[in-house]
Amino acid sequence: MPKYQNDEDYDIHALLETIYLKWGYDFRGYSKASITRRIFFFLKEEKITRIPELQYQLVRDKALFYRFIRDVTVNVTEMFRDPEFYLSVKQNIIPQLKTYPHIKIWHAGCATGEEAYSLAILLDQSGILGRSTIYATDINRTVLDRAKKGIFSDSFLQQYEKNFNNSGLTGNLSDYFEKGYDHVIMDSRLRKNIVFTEHDLVIDHVFGEMQLIFCRNVLIYFTRELQNQVIDLFSESLDFGGYLCLGGKETLDFFSGKDKFITKDADNKIYQKTK
Ligand SMILES: C[S@@+](CC[C@H](N)C(=O)[O-])C[C@H]1O[C@@H](n2cnc3c(N)ncnc32)[C@H](O)[C@@H]1O
Repeated sequence: MPKYQNDEDYDIHALLETIYLKWGYDFRGYSKASITRRIFFFLKEEKITRIPELQYQLVRDKALFYRFIRDVTVNVTEMFRDPEFYLSVKQNIIPQLKTYPHIKIWHAGCATGEEAYSLAILLDQSGILGRSTIYATDINRTVLDRAKKGIFSDSFLQQYEKNFNNSGLTGNLSDYFEKGYDHVIMDSRLRKNIVFTEHDLVIDHVFGEMQLIFCRNVLIYFTRELQNQVIDLFSESLDFGGYLCLGGKETLDFFSGKDKFITKDADNKIYQKTK
């Protein structure tokens, strides 16, 4: 009985095994539909016709491999994505954060950083940015380089301003950036408290004693098994009483260790670690 339903399934499996063996990056637990789509997108971009050919080249060409990481991950993000979520963070999480002398926050899968800058603004308005450290991590070093610069195209500015105005914040988003010709540069005061660094949720270890973890719109790309592994990592990385925030389409409902958490806001996917 063949283990694979068709040649494409076999080719993808062999490709991901090879990447793991050669480069130590593990995409084997990514959901099949999404990783397959991205691999075909990459083949087209690189004008490579067949997966076995890509497999051969990826073993030998480091630059190609880093382009693969860049293109295989989905990096869509925005400032104050889901404004009602930020409103809930303000109401449900910030009061507790205010009681800590030093606050450690982890944005896992931060993409180009808009989410980390958004939270930094909320912390600033709450008077606790100065005693907070935000660790913003991603597997993709290309997006991290962009995040560190804090320079964003102004084509989404209108949407970001609308999100900001619906997030329960005061003032204007423009108080937090300088406008360039076709871009904005985030205030260096916000950047000072954010540490952007590479971290692979599948391979790397616990980040350590966080009071708040954001991992929004990342788990949707993983199989149920990998989601459980990564949520275990978050559970170990959180202080008791710490909060875990997931994306709108994600949930702790199927997590084997879900009794360690209580649901603080079901609609906005905010959970608190209690055990
Ligand atoms: C869709 S973006 C989400 C960005 C942001 N959290 C948001 O909700 O707007 C998903 C991010 O997860 C990152 N990612 C995917 N696999 C990862 C892994 N194994 N470790 C760390 N980050 C990963 C991708 O590179 C991408 O930047």
